[in-house]
Amino acid sequence: MRIEGRLVRLRDTEPEDLARHKRWFRPGTEWQKWDAPWEMKRVLDPDSLEAWLERLRKPPAKARDLMQIATRMGEHIGWVGSYWVSRETGWRDCGVAIAEKRHWGRGYGKEAFTLWVDYLFEAHELPRLGIGTWSGNRRMIHLAARGGMREEAYFPDARLVKGRRYDAVRWGMTREEWEADRAPAGEGFRPYRSGDWTPAVELIRQLFQTHRELQGAPEFTLKDARETLFEWRRRRENRIWVWQEQGELAALAQARHTGVTFLEALVVAGGRRGRGLGARMLEALEAHLRARGERDLFLSMVWPGNPGAIDFYRRQGYDLLNTFELRKGLDEDRRGRRVRFLRRTFRLGKSVP
Ligand SMILES: CC(C)(COP(=O)(O)OP(=O)(O)OC[C@H]1O[C@@H](n2cnc3c(N)ncnc32)[C@H](O)[C@@H]1OP(=O)(O)O)[C@@H](O)C(=O)NCCC(=O)NCCS
Repeated sequence: MRIEGRLVRLRDTEPEDLARHKRWFRPGTEWQKWDAPWEMKRVLDPDSLEAWLERLRKPPAKARDLMQIATRMGEHIGWVGSYWVSRETGWRDCGVAIAEKRHWGRGYGKEAFTLWVDYLFEAHELPRLGIGTWSGNRRMIHLAARGGMREEAYFPDARLVKGRRYDAVRWGMTREEWEADRAPAGEGFRPYRSGDWTPAVELIRQLFQTHRELQGAPEFTLKDARETLFEWRRRRENRIWVWQEQGELAALAQARHTGVTFLEALVVAGGRRGRGLGARMLEALEAHLRARGERDLFLSMVWPGNPGAIDFYRRQGYDLLNTFELRKGLDEDRRGRRVRFLRRTFRLGKSVP
C-alpha cells in the first residue's frame, strides 16, 4: 500500500528496508536523541530482524500501524508508527521519525505526519489520536500543532534529558476535531483549519505590526506571528475563525472562551481593508456565537492609540465599558509617546495625562 504526498510517500515495509532500520537503531543515532531519549532503544539483533522478515512474508493487517517514509525520488528516510494507549477504548498514539538529521527541516516530517494522521483516522475506528513527547522536542510539538492537534496535558519536570528537566507533553485531537479540520475550505466565514496556517501567520503579523507601528515599538516579525498562532492553537479555549474570499484568507478573528467570550484579535488583510469586510466578519462571528447561546461578546484588544478601531467598534454597536487596560512598557523605546484617547492626550510611560 502507498499513500502519495507532495514531498514524500508512505509505503509498506520492504525486506531491503531492514538493513537501514538496523543501522538507524544502533545506539547514538541522531533521531534517538529526540525520540523519547530516556528510553533504551531495542537494538535490532539478528533474531528480531528474522522475526520481522517472517512477518513481512505474511499479508499485512488491513489497517496498518507502521509504514515507511520515502521521498518522491524513492529514498527511504524514516517511518511512521502507531500503537494503542487503550485498545479497549480505541485510544491510539502515533509517532514519526525522519532517521537522519540531514533530511530534517525540509517539510518531510510535517507532510508524513499529516498523511499518517489522516490515514489512521480513516483506516482505524479511532475516537481520538495523539502524540506523546517532551518539551525539548520543539520540532515534534510544532508538527502536532500544524497537523491540527492541541496540547492536552503536560507534566512539569517529568523528563530528564542530558541532566536537564523537561515537561512530558501530550497533544491530540478527537475524531470530530479531525473531521472539522480536514473539511473542504469554504468561502466566507468559517472556523480556522490547520491548512490555513501559512496565510494565518501573515495576517497575524500584519495585525500586530499595525499595533507596533502605532506604538512606535520594534517590528513584529513572522517568527513572532508563528509563535502567536502556535499559542492560540495550543489550547481549546482559544477559537480562531477566518473569512475566505476567492480561495484566500481575507480576515481572521481570535477569541478566548472562558465562561464568556473575549475577542482578542480581528484583522483584515492589508489589501482588502476599507470595504466593509471587518464589519461583515464581526457580524458573522456574532451570529455564530448567538446561535451557540452566547449573550455577550467582550473586546479586550482595542488600543486607545487606535481611534479608528474604537470608532469601528462603536459603529458596530459595541459599548465602551468602564474599564481601561493599563500597561507599562518594560523597554525604554516607547516611553514619552503621546496618544489621543477620548479627546484627551496621554503620554505613554507617564501616568498623568
Ligand atoms: C520531528 C521530526 C519528525 C520533524 O521532521 P522534519 O522533517 O524535520 O520536519 P519539517 O521540516 O517537516 O517541519 C519542521 C517544522 O518544525 C519547525 N521547527 C524546527 N525547529 C523548531 C524549533 N526549535 N522550535 C519550533 N519549531 C521548530 C520548522 O519551522 C518547521 O515548521 P514550519 O514548516 O511551520 O516552519 C524530525 O525532526 C525527527 O525525525 N526527529 C527525531 C525523531 C523524533 O523526535 N520523533 C518524534 C517522536 S515523538
